[in-house]
Amino acid sequence: MSGNAYQDDRGNKDASITNPSGVGTMQPAEGLDNSTTPAEGAPYLIGEAMTGGYGKGADILHDCTIAVEKGQIAVIVGPNGAGKSTAMKAVFGMLNLRQGRVVLDGEDITHLTPQARVAKGMGFVPQTSNIFTSMTVEENLEMGAFIRHDDFRGTMEQVYELFPILREKRYQAAGELSGGQRQQVAVGRALMTQPKLLMLDEPTAGVSPIVMDELFDRIIEVARTGISILMVEQNARQALEIADKGYVMVQGRNAYTDTGKALLADPEVRKSFLGG
Ligand SMILES: Nc1ncnc2c1ncn2[C@@H]1O[C@H](COP(=O)(O)OP(=O)(O)OP(=O)(O)O)[C@@H](O)[C@H]1O
Ligand SMILES: [Mg+2]
Repeated sequence: MSGNAYQDDRGNKDASITNPSGVGTMQPAEGLDNSTTPAEGAPYLIGEAMTGGYGKGADILHDCTIAVEKGQIAVIVGPNGAGKSTAMKAVFGMLNLRQGRVVLDGEDITHLTPQARVAKGMGFVPQTSNIFTSMTVEENLEMGAFIRHDDFRGTMEQVYELFPILREKRYQAAGELSGGQRQQVAVGRALMTQPKLLMLDEPTAGVSPIVMDELFDRIIEVARTGISILMVEQNARQALEIADKGYVMVQGRNAYTDTGKALLADPEVRKSFLGG
């Protein structure tokens, strides 16, 4: 059993499928540069100097950099249309970058498809259409395990422990659940691939303040197991409170980058982005 509750060691030991360590199992020959070994002090994930847009359209991101350390929580905030979701999609490989790169655990993954990135340890919960509403809760979780060929019941059990209401509603259509419960299904689905990096685009959208606090607590719990979290949030103040690192994005650019605490204390950030 590894230290990470969502990465059990049961079932198929073929690391090429679930890739539990995030790097290949082959050892480099002595004296050779092993490019999958992260440089000293390099973040676990970095979308570095990303520039690009949708299709042949104008650039939305301009030299945008987002990074997350191992087991930490990074939060992107900013006004509507700032490009927060676009930055997430760029990190997940849903955008062709004109410039910049994405490096995960020391490996340049800029040219990998989203599915290949999932195999490398990325889990993504998009802002919209993040569950299959006509399927049951449990079927949604099973769909989440699509890349796994091993026994994933242990992971499903862990998701049910994290979100007990999902166990109660496991045979109910996900579309019949409340907003907060649906978001739990979406997060649970992403956890089924045993990601090392969990990317959440507005996980608390449309939920009450109490449910928001509850979801943030669960997200902190996931981070404590060693999973890195990259999250976009509308509830900027509350999200920065739990963020190790915060990014304020404006018009596709980095406007402010600091610890969550420092951003909350910054008068400029407070005035312009946190309602004073
Ligand atoms: N699929 C798309 N095709 C073309 N342009 C898009 C697409 N999605 C978003 N855009 C454009 O990219 C810009 C940034 O949008 P994005 O959704 O990344 O902003 P956001 O910061 O996530 O906003 P919100 O807070 O409303 O979720 C907007 O001008 C938007 O119109
Ligand atoms: Mg968005």
